[in-house]
Amino acid sequence: MSQAFQIAALAGDGIGPEVMSEAIKVLRAVEKKFGLTLKITEAPVGWAGIDAAGKALPDATLALCKQSDAVLFGSVGLPDRDPTIPKEERPERAALLRLRKEFGLFANLRPVVLSKALAHACPLQPERQGDGIDILVVRELTGGMYFGQPKLTENLEAGGKRAIDTMVYTTAEIERIAHVGFRAARLRHKKLTSIDKANVLENGVLWRDVVTRVAKEYPDVALEHMFVDNGAMQLMLKPTQFDVMLCENMFGDILSDEAAALAGSLGMLPSASLGQTTGERTFGVYEPAGGTAPDIAGKNLANPIAQIASAGLMLEYSFGLSDAANAVHKAIAKVIGDGLRTGDIYIAQDAKARKVGTREMGDAIAAAVSV
Ligand code: IPM
Ligand code: MG
Repeated sequence: MSQAFQIAALAGDGIGPEVMSEAIKVLRAVEKKFGLTLKITEAPVGWAGIDAAGKALPDATLALCKQSDAVLFGSVGLPDRDPTIPKEERPERAALLRLRKEFGLFANLRPVVLSKALAHACPLQPERQGDGIDILVVRELTGGMYFGQPKLTENLEAGGKRAIDTMVYTTAEIERIAHVGFRAARLRHKKLTSIDKANVLENGVLWRDVVTRVAKEYPDVALEHMFVDNGAMQLMLKPTQFDVMLCENMFGDILSDEAAALAGSLGMLPSASLGQTTGERTFGVYEPAGGTAPDIAGKNLANPIAQIASAGLMLEYSFGLSDAANAVHKAIAKVIGDGLRTGDIYIAQDAKARKVGTREMGDAIAAAVSV
């Protein structure tokens, strides 16, 4: 019998459905080529969930996720509609952050790779790109200011309001994400830059202490500490100095977008959100790091690569199918090498570049998987 895997595909809002279709197209090509059985079940989330079942994360969708080996997630939230409902019910909090917390997905891996073929799309001068950029942002995903309590807005007697978010980390939370970072660095170029704000934040001091202690278990990995503001600057000045960047939740959110710009576009950035491995399989939610981009939704303009590459990460991390994952990543590289470009990575000066739509990009990647 062929290996069988159950996937929950939650496309969500905006460009979610159209990039999800392309990712499923590519997964079907992988299934055929590698003789697998991928049971892909689609379910609504985000505004699609609210419209279908009254909630951003409908009970049936959550149940489906629980039964599945992995979740392929699109994107959620629509800025025009979000303000019409209480903030706790909005898709980002009620679906995405809830899923992360519900499944304990504390480790978010965001690989940022600028290939030679996309050098034109990188905003940095060629001499700053060196031999190419290859960074793994390891972002803590279930702690920090995103989830710390109290989190509220209150009215002040004197008039006006006061908003409170709480940044909180425990030793154990920092330790487990640090281990993920060091293990990843070990398999890469053996350098880990730990990002913090230890000059101002209590959290930063604890972060630095714990990471320094965990580093002793990884003597083969070079550890460096960097303040987050400097990290943001160094990404622009000399991105080639980084291998693994280890960040708390919010710093990782911000720096991964900045790093994605170096890779040409947010439309190129996949991500894997993983919890603790239990038994053989690692459950994960795989999603592009970009948003719903409602301005280009439904126009066949969106770049499906982040979604497709997220499916590639799923094959690797949750299903342990390195060959299949490599086939996806190679197919993406081939199609980029051939000059196919969605609008976000298209530069007219690049003589080789040919502008294509979402569907043509997906078709080409699926075809490249199949050969
Ligand atoms: C991301 C996104 C989310 C985050 C939003 C949509 C809640 O920006 O995955 O980076 O801030 O984590
Ligand atoms: Mg973000």
